[in-house]
Amino acid sequence: MFINLLVLLIVLAITFFFGRLTYRAIKAQRMWVKILGGLGAGLLTLVFAAVSFAGARGFITGYFPGADPAPEFTVEGTPEQVARGEYIVNIACLGCHSAIGEDGQPSRAQPLTGGWNIAQSEGFGFIGDMITENLTPGGKLAEYTDGEIFRVLRAGVDKNGAGLGVMSSLPYNQLSDDDLKAIVAYLRSLPAESSSGPTGDRFSFVGVLFAGAGLIPEPEPVTGVITAPPAGMTPEYGQYVATFGECRGCHGSDMTGMPASPFGPAVPNPRPFVGTLTQEEFIQAFRTGIRPNGTPFTESMPWQNASKMTDEDLAALFAYLTATP
Ligand code: HEC
Ligand code: HEC
Repeated sequence: MFINLLVLLIVLAITFFFGRLTYRAIKAQRMWVKILGGLGAGLLTLVFAAVSFAGARGFITGYFPGADPAPEFTVEGTPEQVARGEYIVNIACLGCHSAIGEDGQPSRAQPLTGGWNIAQSEGFGFIGDMITENLTPGGKLAEYTDGEIFRVLRAGVDKNGAGLGVMSSLPYNQLSDDDLKAIVAYLRSLPAESSSGPTGDRFSFVGVLFAGAGLIPEPEPVTGVITAPPAGMTPEYGQYVATFGECRGCHGSDMTGMPASPFGPAVPNPRPFVGTLTQEEFIQAFRTGIRPNGTPFTESMPWQNASKMTDEDLAALFAYLTATP
């Protein structure tokens, strides 16, 4: 934060410097100094003013957010809640929050101690570090209320209300209140494990500029109580499965693909391919990671999440992907 503030002040000083230079050039006696100096310094003033504006905006929204207060409740932690939470966390969170293995990638196994620097690993380290959190009671969540963990998932902000880089871009704000409480119940039931290293976001000045220029997607605010559609093999419930199944974070909110962005390459529309499969072939492909024609899914397609779903949930996903979006 302090380095970014320093850079921002330097950029503001440079803007001011070029602004003064422009003024002096315009006031100059000689015509060529007026025109060339005025234009050159004027242009630089504009460029640095734009950078200052984006930087200041990113700084203010990043470090002084106006998040709604966290709800105040204590999750009961019934066995049903813990079991439901375990199901969702194994599908939705393990792929990023499991402890990192020797290859520097998440191990996809317990414990949920995090430590994966997703920004460096996925090629957008230029905006800073984004390191997954330790979700066991041995990490910083021990200091969070149940309502504050709920708000991480619903609003993408931390205990202080500051915006979170990766978490705010995931579609968990659309999960039901009951499922978010189940997730909290499960995380609270885990044995405490200590973190292996630093966690959380540390934006570089480029990251602050990205945020200020609106290039880091911000979630739509969600208010009120959210209930899940009735469970069943319907497209509506399938869309809900695609939400906690993490699919919509990559394939786009309506699962029709995503163009390439500074945060990663393009992700295809899975619907034409799924349309060629039977429900059994679809379920088989997600249980094994291999398509019916024998080609495995690539590393960038985390089918392992879906491999842990029940047959009913995979069938709902199939119904959703074969319905008109
Ligand atoms: C795509 C990777 C990814 C997935 C999937 C993911 N997380 Fe995270 N999570 C992160 C990263 C990275 C951070 C560090 C802060 C940030 O950039 O959002 C984080 C931070 C957190 C935090 C700490 C927030 C804070 O206040 O500092 C919590 C709690 C959390 N995640 C819970 C979850 C839960 C629960 C799930 C599953 C429902 C989940 N995450 C799924 C990447 C992920
Ligand atoms: C981390 C990003 C990511 C997530 C999460 C993700 N996918 Fe994918 N998916 C990809 C990429 C990249 C490809 C293309 C590579 C490939 O085909 O192996 C792909 C390919 C596919 C394909 C094959 C498309 C074809 O034409 O062969 C299907 C089907 C699919 N995804 C469905 C899903 C479903 C269902 C989920 C949720 C359970 C999901 N994806 C989650 C990134 C993702």
